[in-house]
Amino acid sequence: MRNRWIKVLGTGSSVPDRVLTNGDLERMVDTSDEWITTRTGIKERRIAEPQETTATFALRASQRALQEAGIAPEDLDLIVVATVTPDMLFPATACLVQKELGAKKACGFDLEAGCTGFVYALAVAEKYLLAGGGEKALVVGAETLSKIVDWQDRATCVLFGDGAGAVVLGVADEPGILATYLGCDGNGGSLLELPAGCSRFPASFDTVNNRLHYIKMSGNEVFKFAVRVMEEASLEVARRAGISTQEVDLFIPHQANIRIINSAAKRLEIPEERIFVNVHKYGNTSSASIPLALDEAYREGRIREGDLLLLVGFGAGLTWGSAIIRW
Ligand code: COA
Repeated sequence: MRNRWIKVLGTGSSVPDRVLTNGDLERMVDTSDEWITTRTGIKERRIAEPQETTATFALRASQRALQEAGIAPEDLDLIVVATVTPDMLFPATACLVQKELGAKKACGFDLEAGCTGFVYALAVAEKYLLAGGGEKALVVGAETLSKIVDWQDRATCVLFGDGAGAVVLGVADEPGILATYLGCDGNGGSLLELPAGCSRFPASFDTVNNRLHYIKMSGNEVFKFAVRVMEEASLEVARRAGISTQEVDLFIPHQANIRIINSAAKRLEIPEERIFVNVHKYGNTSSASIPLALDEAYREGRIREGDLLLLVGFGAGLTWGSAIIRW
């Protein structure tokens, strides 16, 4: 029997104040509230101001999670920020957060695994602490996708939003994270990509003129992948944790599209009242989506001590990941 576990000690989140509704989008591109609502379940999303960056929301979410956990920043050993929209390629956003928090003894790095980033970061931090790397970790998922969305492309601009969520992890002698499962398949990489700005297509007038600094996505293909992998990843992590998905008290899936969430829940035989959904308020916030949902679920009283949570995500890479947590 194990006697060293990793528990979630506190959660926090932060979103921009500015709300962009489907009605606002109707005035920007050829779309309708009816199309967006029926195809995605999204009604509105939050959009950062020009001076607000990913670190802005990562920092606020982190401060709330630390406060909730009752942990001082100086006690952190590790900071991982999952993001596809870092403030800059370097320094890492984790270092910007580390500085603002004053987390003097923590090491920090960013982790990029598309919208699965938070689940990847959670698993990496759990393994780091289990292996003896320290006692406390801060895991953040934070994005300002509005800065990499092509506001002329109706197929993608209606889907995404900004925000951040964070958790503080700590070593415990009773169960917390029961199991994690991560996977990737680079064969599907071109289905969801941001082509330019790095070593393949360094920034140039051409990359700007060809709009290559924005998200490109084959929506339909990603949809089919998502439905399949959400089920597979959930079943595999449940198997590793030694539970069945019917025992899950709260299912917290990546919030990309209500149809993907419902079809995964149906396949997993998880009833509606055990699914947490906030995609209507925030759209797809990529790495921020699961920790933002987790924090809202906790603050709304949807999670009680001892509950079994199933987190599952998918995204660019292609990547997928899942975790079972005993709260
Ligand atoms: N408003 C109105 N019409 C739109 C539109 C919009 N915002 N975006 C696309 N359309 C049109 C398309 O041009 C297409 O028109 P056509 O048939 O004349 O060519 C039509 O709607 C249907 O497009 P399609 O892509 O087949 O729709 P869909 O049912 O697959 O829904 C998505 C599109 C993007 C909502 C859906 O594929 C999806 O959610 N995919 C997964 C995306 C995702 O989760 N990505 C993030 C991964 S982390």
